[in-house]
Amino acid sequence: MNNLIAPSILAADFANLQRDIEMVNNSEADWFHIDIMDGVFVPNISFGMPVLKAIAKHAKKTIDVHLMIVNPDQYIETFADLGATILTVHYEACPHLHRTIQAIKAAGMKAGIALNPHTPIAVLEDVITELDLVCIMSVNPGFGGQSFIENTYKKVSQLRHLIDFTKSDCLIEIDGGVTNKNANALIEAGANVLVAGSYVFGAENPTETIADLKNTIA
Ligand code: DX5
Ligand code: ZN
Repeated sequence: MNNLIAPSILAADFANLQRDIEMVNNSEADWFHIDIMDGVFVPNISFGMPVLKAIAKHAKKTIDVHLMIVNPDQYIETFADLGATILTVHYEACPHLHRTIQAIKAAGMKAGIALNPHTPIAVLEDVITELDLVCIMSVNPGFGGQSFIENTYKKVSQLRHLIDFTKSDCLIEIDGGVTNKNANALIEAGANVLVAGSYVFGAENPTETIADLKNTIA
């Protein structure tokens, strides 16, 4: 399968959000990656439901919502109504992870789990066949523009192993510090989806940068 590119709207120009959404619509990007932060689970607050609603009005591609919030269960229905196609919650924020995964699917969305850099792949062994996506955080969640953590490669290989071994069709997404310097090696290690925020929106030509990432060949 070809790798998928998910520009992270966190790095867009919020004063020109519609312009940046149209750029993504007209690019080779596959998904919109939307980061929701609550200032509790992570030390930052991004944006919430009204902004997602405005984004969804213009976005013509899959909406991939990454919740960096405590108690995500209470908002599952809300995010389904707002147009999320994929809803990713953090392993570290879910004491009843299996129940949360089922609730996301029951609401008609694909279910994703994100792992912080310190969380080992092994914690997913008993839910991997239930998942549509695992998001491996390659930075500590909370901010865009941080540098990529090298230990991520090892985790991608381990997760690829687990997915193949269990015949799960779950996708591996990498989030944080993705650039042309690590994209190829990540795909080679078994990743399927590359999230890129500052690398795309900070580029002189974001459309071309998306195309370059998309054409990363393992
Ligand atoms: C970090 C967010 C990321 C972030 C990525 O907590 O989950 O999606 O926007 O930004 P870059 O690509 O700049 O690291
Ligand atoms: Zn994210």
